[in-house]
Amino acid sequence: MILNCILPVLIVGISAIISVSCSQFTPIVLWHGMGDSCCFPFSLGAVQKRLSEELPGIHIVSVKLGNSLVEDVENGYFMHPDKQIEEVCKVLNNDPQLSDGYNAIGFSQGSQFLRGLAQRCPEPKMKNLISLGGQHQGVYGLPNCASLSHPTCDYIRRLLNHAAYLSWVQKLLVQATYWHDPLNEGEYSAKSTFLADINNERIINKTYIENLQSLENFVMVKFNGDTMVQPTESEWFGFYKPGQSKEVQKLQDSAIYVNDQLGLKQMDQDGKLHFVELPGNHLQFNWTWFEGNIVDKYLR
Ligand SMILES: *[C@@H]1O[C@H](CO)[C@@H](O)[C@H](O)[C@H]1NC(C)=O
Ligand SMILES: *[C@@H]1O[C@H](CO)[C@@H](O)[C@H](O)[C@H]1NC(C)=O
Repeated sequence: MILNCILPVLIVGISAIISVSCSQFTPIVLWHGMGDSCCFPFSLGAVQKRLSEELPGIHIVSVKLGNSLVEDVENGYFMHPDKQIEEVCKVLNNDPQLSDGYNAIGFSQGSQFLRGLAQRCPEPKMKNLISLGGQHQGVYGLPNCASLSHPTCDYIRRLLNHAAYLSWVQKLLVQATYWHDPLNEGEYSAKSTFLADINNERIINKTYIENLQSLENFVMVKFNGDTMVQPTESEWFGFYKPGQSKEVQKLQDSAIYVNDQLGLKQMDQDGKLHFVELPGNHLQFNWTWFEGNIVDKYLR
């Protein structure tokens, strides 16, 4: 085994040094969720460690925004996703070990940010996108307020409805940028400064479609017992049926798919969309499952 992951090969006769990555595995980019950071040893730090053990020599980049772990956590709330994606795009672009592409794993909101990255930042190339509990159609509800029958929850989300689309709130609070009010789809698509854009709900950006379709696989993992994400169907790119907030609609029945405004129908027909479900709460999975269903299928 080569100790360093970059093996400099001196080509005799040509005074050039070519860097060859020694690992046979495609590099991985991880993007953490809200309230988390790149590297806490109890969360993504542990994931990174397990992946390195499983795939020896692999190059892993765990997205970090800001200069410290605290800043990284704060930016998950307060740095606009557009800016986050722009910065991550630069970092990945400047990483020579990613020049042949990478696989991406998103945790919670990190999943929709990675999808935004795939759509906006084609270089370096994302190959497989794994979304763990991502909210691809946004959220309408507060964490741990899953029970629709609880009057306070519904009250709070109606209240946030008014605040979420105020332009200063959109600028200030990351989670407002993927707040999706099904009672007022028009306001959502006009005022959501991030999600409505990457979902082509304002204008159809053909570049987004082309870039998304160039993925090899888009794997969406939904946690059926999720109390953090409302509705959980958003983790499979579905949402509430427009005009009400009780009945959910699968991706395949929604306008974004039927009109193929983001190219998802084509991707589905090409066998690139994968819908995976787990019984537990938000991001609750064990390594045995992860190894068998994610690592062996998409990362080796
Ligand atoms: C479409 O998306 C690309 C990539 O982010 C961007 O450069 C371009 O300006 C967008 N086009 C429109 C019409 O918004
Ligand atoms: C790991 O998770 C899978 C899927 O939820 C489950 O079937 C399995 O029993 C779990 N294994 C352990 C050791 O907890």
